[in-house]
Amino acid sequence: MLGAFRSFIGITLLVVIKGLFVEAIFSDEAYHIDWQLSNVGPYQCVLPASATESNDQLLVLSTFNNGTMISWLNKTSGELLERLPLGYRVADAMIEHNDLFLKLEDGSINAMDSMNGFSLDHPPTEFSSSCNPDLSTIRFEDGKIKIMDHDTDLQIFSIDMPQDFKGIKYFRSDKENTLDLMYSTVGGKYTFTSVSDLTSTQTWMRDESLANIRAYTYVSSADPNLAQMFTELSQEGSMNVLEAYQFRVKQTLNRLKNYLLEKKFSVGAIVKEFLEDEDEATLHQKDVSFGLLKYLIVATEEGKIAVLDVRDGRQLWNYESGLKDILKIEALRSDTEVVIFTKSGPSLTFDITRIETEPYLLTNTNMAPVHSVEKISENGAFLFKRPGGGRFLLENPLNPITQDLYLLDHNSKELNAFIYQNEAITETWKTKVDEQEEIVAFSSRGEEHVANLGIVLGNRTVLYKYLYPHLAAYATKNEENVLTIRIIDTVSGELLHTSFHEDEVDFNFPINLVFGEHWCVYTYFSTKPVPEQKIAVIELYESLVANERVSEPLTEVNALGNIQRPQFIQKAYLYPEVIKNIGLTKTKLGITTKSIILELENGQVTILPKFILSARRVEESQLSVDDKKEFMVMPYLSAIPINDQAVLTHNRVLLTGPDSHLLSIPTDLESTTLVCTLGHDLFCTRVFPSSQFDKLSPSFEKGKLMATVIGLLLICFFLRPLVDTKKLKLKWLVKD
Ligand SMILES: *[C@@H]1O[C@H](CO)[C@@H](O)[C@H](O)[C@H]1NC(C)=O
Ligand SMILES: *[C@@H]1O[C@H](CO)[C@@H](O)[C@H](O)[C@H]1NC(C)=O
Ligand SMILES: *[C@@H]1O[C@H](CO)[C@@H](O)[C@H](O)[C@H]1NC(C)=O
Repeated sequence: MLGAFRSFIGITLLVVIKGLFVEAIFSDEAYHIDWQLSNVGPYQCVLPASATESNDQLLVLSTFNNGTMISWLNKTSGELLERLPLGYRVADAMIEHNDLFLKLEDGSINAMDSMNGFSLDHPPTEFSSSCNPDLSTIRFEDGKIKIMDHDTDLQIFSIDMPQDFKGIKYFRSDKENTLDLMYSTVGGKYTFTSVSDLTSTQTWMRDESLANIRAYTYVSSADPNLAQMFTELSQEGSMNVLEAYQFRVKQTLNRLKNYLLEKKFSVGAIVKEFLEDEDEATLHQKDVSFGLLKYLIVATEEGKIAVLDVRDGRQLWNYESGLKDILKIEALRSDTEVVIFTKSGPSLTFDITRIETEPYLLTNTNMAPVHSVEKISENGAFLFKRPGGGRFLLENPLNPITQDLYLLDHNSKELNAFIYQNEAITETWKTKVDEQEEIVAFSSRGEEHVANLGIVLGNRTVLYKYLYPHLAAYATKNEENVLTIRIIDTVSGELLHTSFHEDEVDFNFPINLVFGEHWCVYTYFSTKPVPEQKIAVIELYESLVANERVSEPLTEVNALGNIQRPQFIQKAYLYPEVIKNIGLTKTKLGITTKSIILELENGQVTILPKFILSARRVEESQLSVDDKKEFMVMPYLSAIPINDQAVLTHNRVLLTGPDSHLLSIPTDLESTTLVCTLGHDLFCTRVFPSSQFDKLSPSFEKGKLMATVIGLLLICFFLRPLVDTKKLKLKWLVKD
């Protein structure tokens, strides 16, 4: 117990010390620990990027975010060069020299330079579409595309097509017997082939099927070593202290013996392995035991289910479910099964015990149509809402829910609370917002580890956090453009706090809200006094007087009779970019400093440590000498700048679309969390909110450490005879 406590203090100290030097990412890790899948989406029209001879690029028009997007592809390699979302819909396009003419849905025409997207102001003499390839010399027969001679109608060339061939997207031939062809498949793949002198010279394929993720979940890779350790620990549990100690020593010695046997007792081999760079297998094993290897299971709007390795985005397998209204995908039974729910009713369950290989379809059931699904317990219970408003609960028959569950649901007009008791759902309370009001954001306090009960101030007193778990916050808008944030007790429905923002909030911009351990952070865009992105925080304390604790340690409070009220402090800051989505970093034990993940409208993802976004920051002049001794205390400055080192996306630009998901996945290393954003594009990276305090950096100098140890051993080796002689001489009273 004492040992655990010491190591806990140790880790906390390390976090604190390391937190002082925020280095977001080692430079040798940028672009190695993150990946991006840049999607174009379903191709609407494919054109040559220029009508000139030397053209080696293709232009693709696709749909993104209700508008059209133009993408430039390298014709030789298929590599995506640039993307330009237009924000309006294009019905047709025409290319002439280096001019691209876009015909809008209302018939008007926009002109731009086809190589760089700059606007031009001269209309075409006459619009003729370049989007419909001339297919008069092409036939699709017997699973092949046959290219015929224009004059003789004899076959010149044929290309085998895959089973799920859908259509030809691009075809262009010239006199010198060269032709370019692009075709699509039902599965969302686009293949480009260039044929010259009757041989296919180059082929590439782009997979656009993972664009627009609708639902996701993740599973961890099972670690056999960990399983063995758990068995040993549980065996120890049934022994007395002495036996357990002997058992532990014996197991460790066994492990050492096996290791030495494996190395054939060769010291050289062991030293070599220690100094060598790690090979692929060791790195993989490390990722497994540190919990860095997770599998993302995603479902797209087209019904494709795919499993991705979160470290590099590699696709392990995919399954075309054909379900276009997937609501939810969840892992069940200790990550051995995954279940998929849809809006219209069909539901699939897969066995994913061996995740690296194709899954096995366990059940395919048809449920009643639902409006929404929510996982409500770790046992694998789900709450469904019917389109009409009724609710029902589906629980795992092997692991039923035994205690009462408090549930809170909301729509844009009201909050409804329920209790699940004796297998029935009963409504407990209901709050309607005002007639002109509408709920625009909602967040309940997640259940997670909290490492510290309070905040240690500079003069060694403590401010106790309000850690009552049943809290939620919601934001409403009204017709006067006022944003209201309310914090409520989810069990009793009591309103604990209300705050208003009357600075002409613009509700066309996103409103985001997250609830962390004892605070809630929200973002909004207001137009007064000047248009600006704001980020605000409300913190909850047991008391604002230092060292005053209201809750009793070790006493459990009945949530229904909770009379302890929190006290609040709040602050708002300005942020230089429009914030699209926010999330929180999650780590295994909650010791690492919490950070807010911000997805910006400009396509970047960045993190902001919570201590910067503190409601307790005051102006420099009001800080006493003692106050300045507090950990990470900063004077209040109204603007929070973007720290370049904290930009997780580096130079990448993400196009995540309107319904992207921002998530943080804890790993088995307390310092490390995986952050992903899934939408039109997919992006994942590793984040170390307090730097990597529990892992040696890759550039750690093993050689020097080894040399020091050997040096010390040698010194002992030579000193020992000297000491022995000295002792002997002393006994015989011999003088030197
Ligand atoms: C996109 O268009 C659809 C239908 O036209 C509309 O319902 C939806 O709100 C639009 N989405 C956005 C983000 O503008
Ligand atoms: C296209 O790819 C080829 C082969 O990878 C490369 O040689 C060429 O420079 C690329 N062109 C452009 C415009 O990037
Ligand atoms: C310690 O500092 C806090 C915050 O500045 C202050 O409220 C409190 O009174 C101080 N306590 C003592 C004992 O000085």
